[in-house]
Amino acid sequence: MIFSNLILLLYLFRICHTQLGAMSGSPLDVIFDLYYLKLISLDAERQLLSLCLQLKTFWQDPRLSWNMTEFSGLDDIFVAADVLWIPDTQVGNA
Ligand SMILES: *[C@@H]1O[C@H](CO)[C@@H](O)[C@H](O)[C@H]1NC(C)=O
Repeated sequence: MIFSNLILLLYLFRICHTQLGAMSGSPLDVIFDLYYLKLISLDAERQLLSLCLQLKTFWQDPRLSWNMTEFSGLDDIFVAADVLWIPDTQVGNA
């Protein structure tokens, strides 16, 4: 299985994915899930609320797809985020 992982990684990253940039064509659907984890502080006098939140971002990039039968049935792999093109998103103070 380790060999299949390696072959798949070489296949997916035959071109440097971070340099591909955004996909061209139709607009990309990006889904955001925002989870509340905990209240850190609430300062009513200064109207300041601090929360711990988790933002999960989902999108489909067909450039990272493969045919499972050609890779020993491998249906998922873990890849470091810094080698992927990731939609540029920001969360600001509200
Ligand atoms: C996946 O690969 C197998 C074996 O090469 C092939 O028979 C099948 O048609 C491929 N499936 C797709 C969706 O390309």
